[in-house]
Amino acid sequence: MTKIDKQQLETAIQAGRKHVHLPFSLHLFDTVSSTNQILWNLLSQGAEPGCTVIATQQTAGRGQWGRQWISDDGGLYLSLAIAPKLDVTNGYQLTLATAWGIAKQLQESGVPTQIKWPNDLVLKRRKLGGILTETKVQQGRIAQAIIGVGINWANPVPETGINLKTWQALNDSKSIPTLEILAATVLIGIESGIQCLLAEGANILISRYLELLSNMGDRVYHNDIAGTVVGVTQQGALRVCTEACEFVTVQSREIYFQPGTISLGYDG
Ligand code: BTN
Repeated sequence: MTKIDKQQLETAIQAGRKHVHLPFSLHLFDTVSSTNQILWNLLSQGAEPGCTVIATQQTAGRGQWGRQWISDDGGLYLSLAIAPKLDVTNGYQLTLATAWGIAKQLQESGVPTQIKWPNDLVLKRRKLGGILTETKVQQGRIAQAIIGVGINWANPVPETGINLKTWQALNDSKSIPTLEILAATVLIGIESGIQCLLAEGANILISRYLELLSNMGDRVYHNDIAGTVVGVTQQGALRVCTEACEFVTVQSREIYFQPGTISLGYDG
């Protein structure tokens, strides 16, 4: 059973953080049902924003769109509570901000991570991790949010996946030497992504997200429509420019896919 050392994790967080915005209070486990679920339980008992639950195995991991997230021993399963006071219509920005923040932080550590729309972290075009944001809404505003992140560290992965430990061994890389350093990198990445969104705004966040998006320029085929990925809207929809005939105006050539309505797929 993989263990996380609290002292080493705290040291790594302190060493890696440029600015402190949230005090993280850490709850570490070997196996839980779902770190998101444990964190909701802690919030209902009065836990504050910054509360973090980390495990190395989950028995009922939750994925996007109601899917299961297979969570064998050796992975990083992490959930962080925040209280962002965002309008509910902008809720998906939390996922985009998290994806950008973690990918950027991993890149700065020497792991060339990109984003696959909308919420996948990819390495060598294979899935390294994913993000599931869950929210509680009051009067149209997000009162509480839990950002859940799963990263393949040493756990087994399917053919379309990749785990960081194996990638590092094959590439003679010591960029992220321990699971504690990975957990600190992810926490600092989430913090910097959310900080970018709340302090600099959605426009700047999206422009940074697009710089790390592996799908820019990809061809998309859906229901007899063919087009090219040209960006992402502030609500997280994929912007696709279709090849319509010349008399159609430029605006009407662009179509939008909401997160979860199409999958861009993986190689292999
Ligand atoms: C996806 O479907 O790509 C997102 C998966 C997110 C999984 C993480 S693991 C930690 C947290 N707890 C959960 O039950 N799910 C998220």
